[in-house]
Amino acid sequence: MRIIATKNYDEMSRAAASLIAAQVLQKPDSVLGLATGSSPIGAYKKLIQWYQAGALDFSACSTLNLDEYVGLTPDNDQSYAYFMRQNLFDHINIKPENLNIPDGTNPDAAGECARYDRVIEAFGGADLQLLGIGRNGHIGFNEPGSVFVRGTNCVQLTQSTIDANKRFFAREEDVPRKAYTMGIGGIMMARRVVLVACGEDKAEAVAKTVSGPITPEVPASILQLHRDFVLIADEAALSQLEK
Ligand code: GLP
Repeated sequence: MRIIATKNYDEMSRAAASLIAAQVLQKPDSVLGLATGSSPIGAYKKLIQWYQAGALDFSACSTLNLDEYVGLTPDNDQSYAYFMRQNLFDHINIKPENLNIPDGTNPDAAGECARYDRVIEAFGGADLQLLGIGRNGHIGFNEPGSVFVRGTNCVQLTQSTIDANKRFFAREEDVPRKAYTMGIGGIMMARRVVLVACGEDKAEAVAKTVSGPITPEVPASILQLHRDFVLIADEAALSQLEK
């Protein structure tokens, strides 16, 4: 594990974007595993700037997104498909046919999860998987539980996650209760995992991820076993780490 300590969100974003840019420069047909949430937005902004400056070419890249709310169509402004178009895809030269995200409109959960696992396996996993982290230590939408779930699965969101994400919806009742998420196996298959965390409300989850027991109660703790795990976090998010 490598920890990159940054002063603030902007520095964290620049560091994460630099790793993604290096990945694309070294391997133009990289498979990029991407995440939603507020944590990666700054990194996406930097990538867009560098693309616009002519420094990056995404035309041969493919993407694998982590998760999607069940029941939201891609044109719903709260769907993760919409988020990705707005925050990254619409601003770079990535090809629409190379974008992969679970289909929240597919009511057949088993069928959709199996389809997405076939996509992940066909790529052999992502070259680089970007992650945020939930306050309860979730990655993607893999919520704390009694087992690490290997494959793509349909999850019931916890109240902590619903509370954290309700700020994006008009009313709490509007937050979907279920999501499709890449499983822990899909995430761990990535050649490199980069987790970005910022702010004090992530400090406990970050400390447990880095030095707590490896347990499905803290899904991100499994990243201790990944051979190329990079944590990029600001001072506040690192504040509960043992010195
Ligand atoms: C959601 C996403 C996660 C993300 C988390 C944290 O639950 N499914 O992938 O890491 O939110 O979001 P934020 O970065 O906004 O704190």
